[in-house]
Amino acid sequence: MIYSEDLIEEVRVRNDILGVVSGYVRLQRQGRRMVGLCPFHSEKTPSFSVDAGKQVFYCFGCQKGGNVFHFIMGIENLEFPDALKQLADRAGITLPESEDDGERERSKLKKEITALNREAARFFFSCLSKPEGRNAQQYLAGRGLQEKTLRVFGLGYAPDSWDALCRHLQEKGTPSWLLETAGLAASGGNGLYDRFRNRIMFPIFDIRGNIVGFGGRVMDDSQPKYLNSPDTPLFSKNRELYGMNFARLSSSKQLVMVEGYMDVISLHQAGVDTAVASLGTAFTQHQAWMLKKYAEEVIMAYDADPAGQNATLRGMEILEGTGSPIRILQIPDGKDPDEYVRKHGVEQFRTLLDTALSLLEFRLLLQKRAHPGEDVEDRVHLLNGMADVLATHENAIEREMTMAGIAGEYKVSMESLKTEVDKRLRKVGNGKGPIRTSGIMQGNRSVTDGPVRNRYDESELLLLCLLGNENRLFEELLLRRPATAYRGNISRVVAAKLYERLQNRHEASLAELANDLPPDAASAMIHMAETRGTVDNADKAIQDLLRRLERIALEDEKQWILESIRSEKDEVKLRELGVELNRVISRMSEIQMVASI
Ligand code: UTP
Ligand code: MN
Repeated sequence: MIYSEDLIEEVRVRNDILGVVSGYVRLQRQGRRMVGLCPFHSEKTPSFSVDAGKQVFYCFGCQKGGNVFHFIMGIENLEFPDALKQLADRAGITLPESEDDGERERSKLKKEITALNREAARFFFSCLSKPEGRNAQQYLAGRGLQEKTLRVFGLGYAPDSWDALCRHLQEKGTPSWLLETAGLAASGGNGLYDRFRNRIMFPIFDIRGNIVGFGGRVMDDSQPKYLNSPDTPLFSKNRELYGMNFARLSSSKQLVMVEGYMDVISLHQAGVDTAVASLGTAFTQHQAWMLKKYAEEVIMAYDADPAGQNATLRGMEILEGTGSPIRILQIPDGKDPDEYVRKHGVEQFRTLLDTALSLLEFRLLLQKRAHPGEDVEDRVHLLNGMADVLATHENAIEREMTMAGIAGEYKVSMESLKTEVDKRLRKVGNGKGPIRTSGIMQGNRSVTDGPVRNRYDESELLLLCLLGNENRLFEELLLRRPATAYRGNISRVVAAKLYERLQNRHEASLAELANDLPPDAASAMIHMAETRGTVDNADKAIQDLLRRLERIALEDEKQWILESIRSEKDEVKLRELGVELNRVISRMSEIQMVASI
């Protein structure tokens, strides 16, 4: 059941947060806040506070925060729909029992497509054991798949024909429009034809095990290697995780993220029943949250090729944003998990799982690869690069232990390494930036604990918090920074919602925006608003933040150009890079000048 945004907002507004929290926590006034002992962690002196004006709660001790929904979800241990129901009851609002007509239509259509997909999967499966499916059988056997695996994953074969599936399903009374809507057929000059022809068929299951779409693989080297169902009312590629319907049932909560269908299937066959794949598209926020919900730890085991390594970098940032513990598994000698497990066996793969690298180790490894350290200069680059990495790592103990290792390995003194890391740590905003705050406890707590990891994301989120508090700043911001410019995981979501609301209704509060955020993202946003969002001069703060964001982006760009210059041999390209570098540097000094006026 999906409720409208307006209804959700009505339930929130009609449950005053002070009243709701008072049912669980004894609150006392302290300035503009009401404070009490935090119900989410044990403490002797009150650091839990409720801001009735903003309708949010926030704990300065455990940093949990959010609106009234997040409070009830946390304290009653409920999922959002149940928290909504409880608060609706409390306010005497009746939630609609039956779905409205449009909704009913949609869900009927989804059921029809689900049933049709099941029929299609049966058909593909049956084709495997017909004479025409002999090649496909052999192909699958050649890839080491057992009978039982084929059945569990429902693999099949789409015959080499323009209309075998269409005819089969139409005989059973399926209308053409449904075949098309389900993405199983398309229409051309000669009428309806099968989308999947002469391919190995992989049904794609949603988390409950319904078949929502298909991937079809060629059996030779032709292109495209995989053809997938188009997006349909039931299927959206970037929402599903292939294998999640099985992985969810495993007794292990360590999920293994791989790239492809075959990796998932091979690993499950070998007994690693927690493998899931993101269907080759870029890994999305939605998938990250799904992983976070079911996994205590995520091991990323992408292909060893450059594409896989790049996808690892992007994927781990998104995962990091949700706060999931992550480790990175590097497959030796240029293989994917499928090939590896077939060649070396599952015990060796499990060893790889056990020895997968922490994010810190992985980032240091990337530095080592970028600077093999053959001469003194390169070694200096490497050690500086490692200092950069260390400075963004929040755990001081791990930092210290790792530094000791590096100092030993590269024969530098622990003091000099520490000096470099500390220098960078001071720069990584711990409240000493250009923003002057006037809230309690400003500045002395790093914001790197939550899903907001770096200075850039942090500045973006702070910008949005200021805007949420003072909607009048919108006009200026709309000109200087459109909603699409935000990069951080949380700030992207917040920006989209906040800008949309301000454009349509001209007002929006942070508490309302929190309706759209999962608990940890809401905590991060409220944390920012409560610890740093109260500024003496919002206009000036906004200017500072915009400059800071541009500066960080330019610094990144500069680093990137410098790295490219180091590895570039082509004269012409080198000259172009030089021009780029000059542009970046002169823009950087412009910003500096404006800032100092
Ligand atoms: P891979 O090329 O690594 O595929 O792409 P794979 O699963 O290892 O397949 P094999 O081992 O060659 O049979 C990873 C995933 O990217 C998506 C598929 O989901 C695939 O499993 N992909 C790849 C596509 O959707 N289309 C393509 O053309 C290629
Ligand atoms: Mn493969």
